[in-house]
Amino acid sequence: MSIELAEFEAVPRSWTRRHLLGLEELSAEEITLILDKAEMFREATAGASKKIPLLTGKTCVNLFFENSTRTRTSFSLAARRLGADTIDFSASTSSLSKGEMVIDTAKNIEAMRVDAMVVRHRTPGTPHLLAQNLDCSVINAGDGPHEHPTQGLLDIMTIRQRFGHIDGLTVALVGDIAHSRTARSNIWGLKKLGAHVIVCGPSTLVSPRWEEVGVEYCYKLDDILSRVDVLNLLRIQFERQYSRPFPSVREYAHLYGMDRQRLAKTKGNILIIAPGPINRGVEVTPDVGDGPHSAILQQVSNGLAVRMAVLWLVTGIEG
Ligand code: CP
Repeated sequence: MSIELAEFEAVPRSWTRRHLLGLEELSAEEITLILDKAEMFREATAGASKKIPLLTGKTCVNLFFENSTRTRTSFSLAARRLGADTIDFSASTSSLSKGEMVIDTAKNIEAMRVDAMVVRHRTPGTPHLLAQNLDCSVINAGDGPHEHPTQGLLDIMTIRQRFGHIDGLTVALVGDIAHSRTARSNIWGLKKLGAHVIVCGPSTLVSPRWEEVGVEYCYKLDDILSRVDVLNLLRIQFERQYSRPFPSVREYAHLYGMDRQRLAKTKGNILIIAPGPINRGVEVTPDVGDGPHSAILQQVSNGLAVRMAVLWLVTGIEG
């Protein structure tokens, strides 16, 4: 056995969860354990491009009822690089069109002897429902606007790589907080690790009630630029809205778009991240999104290592 494999021989006893449903329910220690293991996978697999066959003989299913590029692809790759078999379920060509319920769909797929199900659905709580009704591990890959835990973890991993710590940093989440599962996972994860979190956007998309859980809110991006260490630029999710939350996209870009002029008002070592997909020219201009402060593609690479760590942990616990 190689040194790398020996390091991953057994899931630590401190990890006891068969499912990953959200960061709100995890402790700081559990989040740190996932991040540390993700770093080990990243190093042991040379950026997660080399195989490390810890899940040989296991089967992971991607059960996506919403579209995805990054999450679905990286869960598939993560499972394959761990030696597992993978199945990509496509909702649009499935028997859902004949009226089959989500829970029956999941139970039928599980009956084919599946070890982990990665679930994305527009309805909050769907992964939780499946976790209560299935024997296999369930991983939340985004449930409506509720949570997207692996996105939160890869964002936090990227921030930790840049600064070496999370404690004491000021992180601003900018844009559509109301509909963003990424925002919620970031808020819970970052706060547990000791960051100060600010939510910033139009008043139609940012609630002052975030203050009740210790999150600062503000409506003017220009007011906070000089004191933030990290800007996480969130996409406006028009697909989840029945009416426009601001008069025009142009006006939104004018008030909240990150461009070169705004960049000049930030700390010299500002880190800019975005969960993707990004709308160039709306939440960020191309020169800033592709510039030296941006870690947008590094986030995607980290996503692979995070998802390898999560698949290994949740399928590897005893009993
Ligand atoms: N960030 C994210 O979840 O991207 P996808 O929707 O492409 O998976």
